[in-house]
Amino acid sequence: MISEKVQNVLNSQINKEFYSAYLYLAMSAFFDEIGLYGFANWTKVQAREEIDHGMILFDYIIERDGKVNLDKIDSPERNFENPLQVFEKILEHEKFVTESINCVASMSEDECDLATRHFINWYITEQVEEEANARDVITKLKMFGDEKASLYHLDQDLSKREYKAHSYK
Ligand code: FEO
Repeated sequence: MISEKVQNVLNSQINKEFYSAYLYLAMSAFFDEIGLYGFANWTKVQAREEIDHGMILFDYIIERDGKVNLDKIDSPERNFENPLQVFEKILEHEKFVTESINCVASMSEDECDLATRHFINWYITEQVEEEANARDVITKLKMFGDEKASLYHLDQDLSKREYKAHSYK
């Protein structure tokens, strides 16, 4: 059994993960519209990973005999201008998610819920990787600018990303 406070932050985290999937899908659609299909692929794969993140939380709440509460998912932002601006938004969003995950860790400690504290470590590690991935693309975009040949090569590079189902166990 989990405490109500831990259950609430876990349910809130489910919502943030599914919102993240929406946000990445909106970005993927934008990239598709401007013909950057590799960027579109990368963000679409990320959207699928975000759904996994939400589902892992969903399964965990049930495993702990808690109650799943699914809130409304907000519409994602759609004011996208160019690849650099989008990836800066991605980094900003992932930092927000990292803070939220840290709050789940902190709440589970306050509630002496060591199982949740252990469980959430997987997300803490995942957030380090997600922020680093976004930063990596930002660095490349800043280094090469929006010169067409380099953008083409980066697009080719991002087209190679493949979806692999995430599991924390
Ligand atoms: Fe599931 Fe991108 O955080």
